[in-house]
Amino acid sequence: MSDNRVVIFDTTLRDGEQSPGATMTHDEKLEIAEMLDDMGVDIIEAGFPIASEGDFAAVSEIAKRSKNSRICGLARANFADIDRCWEAVKHAEKNRIHTFIGTSPLHRAIPNLTMDEMADKIHETVSHARNLCENVQWSPMDATRTEWDYLCRVIEIAIKAGATTINIPDTVGYTAPMESADLIKKLIETVPGADDVIFATHCHNDLGMATANSLAAVAGGARQIECTINGLGERAGNTALEEVVMALKVRNDIMPWSTGIDTTKLMNISRRVATVSGFPVQFNKAIVGKNAFAHESGIHQDGMLKNKETFEIMRPEDVGLSGTSLPLGKHSGRAALRDKLEQLGFEVADNQLKDIFVRFKELADRKKEVFDDDIVALVRAGSGEDEADRLQLVSMKVVCGTGGPAESTVEMEVDGKDITATSEGDGPVDATFKAIRQIHPNTARLQLYQVHAVTEGTDAQATVSVRLEEDGVIATGQSANTDTVVASAKAYIHALNRLLVRRDKVGEGVDAKEVSYKDLA
Ligand code: KIV
Ligand code: ZN
Repeated sequence: MSDNRVVIFDTTLRDGEQSPGATMTHDEKLEIAEMLDDMGVDIIEAGFPIASEGDFAAVSEIAKRSKNSRICGLARANFADIDRCWEAVKHAEKNRIHTFIGTSPLHRAIPNLTMDEMADKIHETVSHARNLCENVQWSPMDATRTEWDYLCRVIEIAIKAGATTINIPDTVGYTAPMESADLIKKLIETVPGADDVIFATHCHNDLGMATANSLAAVAGGARQIECTINGLGERAGNTALEEVVMALKVRNDIMPWSTGIDTTKLMNISRRVATVSGFPVQFNKAIVGKNAFAHESGIHQDGMLKNKETFEIMRPEDVGLSGTSLPLGKHSGRAALRDKLEQLGFEVADNQLKDIFVRFKELADRKKEVFDDDIVALVRAGSGEDEADRLQLVSMKVVCGTGGPAESTVEMEVDGKDITATSEGDGPVDATFKAIRQIHPNTARLQLYQVHAVTEGTDAQATVSVRLEEDGVIATGQSANTDTVVASAKAYIHALNRLLVRRDKVGEGVDAKEVSYKDLA
């Protein structure tokens, strides 16, 4: 790899997924990994194999399926973690063990280790990892708050023990660009053996500086950026992959480093990660936000019409937004739909096309123009229904307004039996959920209820995500509809159906945590 090539290390499936509420199912993790691999991500950190059977299964399967990317797993500084990590990543043609320990005074105090004891532990664990795997990454967690002398000392030990990449995490998003560049530069100049390894930067966004700090670290000599799609991650998140990659592309004149990312795939993966994680992208988010290429004000629109470069530093097509996006309508046929799906980056089999086409026609009957985002929602949300589901929505009617509490009448088929219930509630969604609970009594706690308008206009489709938890079992349901209350009811019923399947698995003796991670529905 040339000296100006920056390795992109994606940790959406590990640090991103660690974000409270961002749990993905097994199948969703495989799908995201495949998209990352396709997009040209050099290294995928696929999970933390010792954390659960589910994490182990996902990392192993991703390792087996990887095509081009190196597959990495995380391990704490102990032999059991490292062995488990190796068992999962060993299936990949290119693999990596990433082991870490907190080196700052605050982190050293937790296992109550002296500086010398910790140094010995680092030597032992990195050597152990290197005996298993040729490619080992070591991280001194909270590096940016670790004493400088000690940081140099432990990095030297890790390099001598066989680490091939040294990652410098700014675990709490504390550093600033100048300091970030300086730290990497000084480490490379000072630590013996530094020239033989790659230095990586791993920034969190607590002060909103993760992207700037990562790029500054590259200026200081780092050649690996750790990042996540949409900046997903704990608290304020991690460095956003799309931001660093596009910054390096657009400002290559002053940042002469390149990546191997096919940037036209950014938009698609961003949308998919937003859907499966349940974390929508803010409208004004750089690169992938809905408004990132929208020019609303008169002055901007006028300038854009005369010369696009007046207000556009990159082309929408560069990030995967099609420039000329003609909406489809009720007269559009199957071929036009297939064409549009291909433009949007979806490869669908004939039977899938048949199902999407039926739902497209239903939508086009209700909505004059079906935009790209509508099509994406149709594909992504799926029908949310399956003939094998025990609970089926038959019909519903809602009365709401200013005159009193909302009232919802829901008719459902439960194990083949038709049941109707009416309930009042604090708004139409609350009334509908209560009616569904009357029909199918359950103690599931609503962990998340999220509505997202897919396009502009009052006839926009709403995508709804519902996450339920019952006795430690978690299930998520999704649906899209121009009627927000219908989408809500379908998403709720979808989640209940998945919960039923998972609870049956628990009855058969499978651990609740495991079924929550695996897509058994
Ligand atoms: O932020 C952090 O320190 C981490 C480490 C595990 C690398 O994610
Ligand atoms: Zn992190």
